[in-house]
Amino acid sequence: MQMPTPIILDCDPGIDDFIAIMMILAAPERFSLLGITVSGGNVPINFTAQNALKACELAERRDVKVYAGCPAPLLRPLVLEEGVHGVEGLKYVNLPTPKMLLQSTHAVDFLIDTLLNYPQKVTLATTGPLTNVALAIVREPRILDNIEEIVTMGGSMCLGNITPAAEYNFYADPEAAHILFTSGKKITAVSIDVTHQALTTSEWMEKLAKMGNPAASAVSAMVQGVHEYDTQNFETAGGALHDPCVIAYFLDPSLFKGTDVHVEIDTSHGVTRGRSTIDRWGKRGLTPNAHVFNEFNASGFFDLLTDLLFRYKRL
Ligand code: RIB
Ligand code: CA
Repeated sequence: MQMPTPIILDCDPGIDDFIAIMMILAAPERFSLLGITVSGGNVPINFTAQNALKACELAERRDVKVYAGCPAPLLRPLVLEEGVHGVEGLKYVNLPTPKMLLQSTHAVDFLIDTLLNYPQKVTLATTGPLTNVALAIVREPRILDNIEEIVTMGGSMCLGNITPAAEYNFYADPEAAHILFTSGKKITAVSIDVTHQALTTSEWMEKLAKMGNPAASAVSAMVQGVHEYDTQNFETAGGALHDPCVIAYFLDPSLFKGTDVHVEIDTSHGVTRGRSTIDRWGKRGLTPNAHVFNEFNASGFFDLLTDLLFRYKRL
């Protein structure tokens, strides 16, 4: 019997981050969620923090601790993604103002304290700009020894989504992403090369809406925003559920197939800002610092996600 994985999620909810939180909380037999840390990202930090609290309350998990961290990137002004997520981050959904309060500890202090002192190695999942995590690493590099695995949603081997060159999370804070990929820890990166295969369909959204539980209904409504934005802006068949792919990887790694590669982040201020140069064929002869995926079982992913959301029916 596998013990629950001690995990911290660093995120910027945002619709897909919200769903990632709901997935973790739907599987307490697999995850021991030590805390959620948020940063500015898709929307300003006051909204990312509130949205993380809203997810915990929707999952009826007011025991979960949510920590606010860095409102903006290390060296760049915050670039929002309101077009996708709406001004407050959960487009098309109006969840009640949370009664839960944020923790008073800063997210970076929580990350350092927990990663230094927790009795087991802790898994770190990130689904937003990497500012909090990078700052924790710079302030206290010893935390890296107590991290079991870092799985981050970010990067692209091919086209970007926020610019032609870069994926949003790495674009928003390139210096933070650089710190992560030069930390000496091998990073598992779930890039848009696979998350752009995790595409919503109208049939799936309707199935969610008919599940008859508040969590599935809220997710069904909010993914409409992603579905509309992506089909209109990327000519895709549906909306990409980026961040849920990170949680799906923990729950069923067989959905993904990948390889060890070297990744370098562009910290320039030019058109390639935030670009992740992923050396898929080892042309640079550099030691791999990451594991990235190029094959993905999309139908298996949606079966998993649907099963997890269905669990809320019994709440
Ligand atoms: O590029 C996709 C990523 O940027 C996702 O994490 C989404 O939530 C946004 O933060
Ligand atoms: Ca995100």
